[in-house]
Amino acid sequence: MKDFLSKTAREITPYTAGEQPADRKYIKLNTNENPYPPSPKALKAYENCDFSSLKLYPPLQMQKLREAIAAAEGVEAENVFCGNGSDEILAFCFPAFFDADGEGAAFADITYSFYPVFAAFFHIPVKILPLEEDFSLDLAKLTAMPAQGVIVANPNAPTGMGIPLGEVQTFVKANEDRVVILDEAYMPFFGESAAKLIKTHKNLVVVKTFSKGYSLAGIRCGYAIADKALISGLERCRDCFNSYPVDRVCQEVCAAAISDSEYYKKMNALVISERERLTAALEKRGFTVLPSRANFVFAKHCSMTGRQVYEELRERGVLVRHFAKPRIADFCRITVGSKEENDGLLRALSDFLG
Ligand SMILES: Cc1ncc(COP(=O)(O)O)c(C=O)c1O
Repeated sequence: MKDFLSKTAREITPYTAGEQPADRKYIKLNTNENPYPPSPKALKAYENCDFSSLKLYPPLQMQKLREAIAAAEGVEAENVFCGNGSDEILAFCFPAFFDADGEGAAFADITYSFYPVFAAFFHIPVKILPLEEDFSLDLAKLTAMPAQGVIVANPNAPTGMGIPLGEVQTFVKANEDRVVILDEAYMPFFGESAAKLIKTHKNLVVVKTFSKGYSLAGIRCGYAIADKALISGLERCRDCFNSYPVDRVCQEVCAAAISDSEYYKKMNALVISERERLTAALEKRGFTVLPSRANFVFAKHCSMTGRQVYEELRERGVLVRHFAKPRIADFCRITVGSKEENDGLLRALSDFLG
């Protein structure tokens, strides 16, 4: 029978977000949110919002927010593009920088699983480079792949592994005749951002988010930093969908948040030190943990499958993420929580691992 759907709507496999079950209270370590609250300055900006102005559409140019981001990143406001979460910006990158009949978008086999979904949605071919045995990315191999452009998550997800800035710079230069998109969603936990390179590299787009390092996943805001010409490509694509993807309240709160680097430096240092404690504690319990530069760890137990660990933890009220995919099915991705949450995870693990 006719179902009235397009071929895309009928056949595409959409991205699956981390579960949010409501049957009981869980220690939620499955979506890489920050365990700490947003900055007091961001909360104050929220309280001070003029809610009566919500009858009006938000500022079209988002000037205040873009200037605050530019100041924090050491670039100009004209180099900043804001969107409804970095997922939306990554989505716009596909129609903005790739052609359906072009050489395609190149990225790793194990990386953010939204990339192949965006490519499929916009009918853009993909070129997939397998990560090395140790899950590192060979940038020379990626450079050698024929493609219209490349996408690299740094730190990568779900492995958590990071590439130092020096190597990224060499890579961006080696690919100067095509677009390089760096997804730096987890950069606040690594500190090797390539954002400033946009001044010298016209092919570079750095995509960041308020969701992880700024404890604002609930407000949905992300941004891209790039040369003006690339920013205008993103704007043209955005304006084919929605001229106002970032609401008034969001613009105020995020502008205040990004201006409070002192607070976030302190809180993210806590996440990093908990990450190191969690890694050591997992290794003691028989896990192999990949070297993480993000706010999560990717861990594989010596005798249990990833699915078993995920299920045993879920039964004990702890949610982690398991991907039933080739090469990584033995792993679980575990968000670094607060000290109390991490202790809860370790107690639950000891309960079934002994
Ligand atoms: C690698 C990576 N990029 C981008 C995002 C999207 O973040 P948001 O849309 O919340 O900005 C995520 C979210 O988990 C991610 O893991």
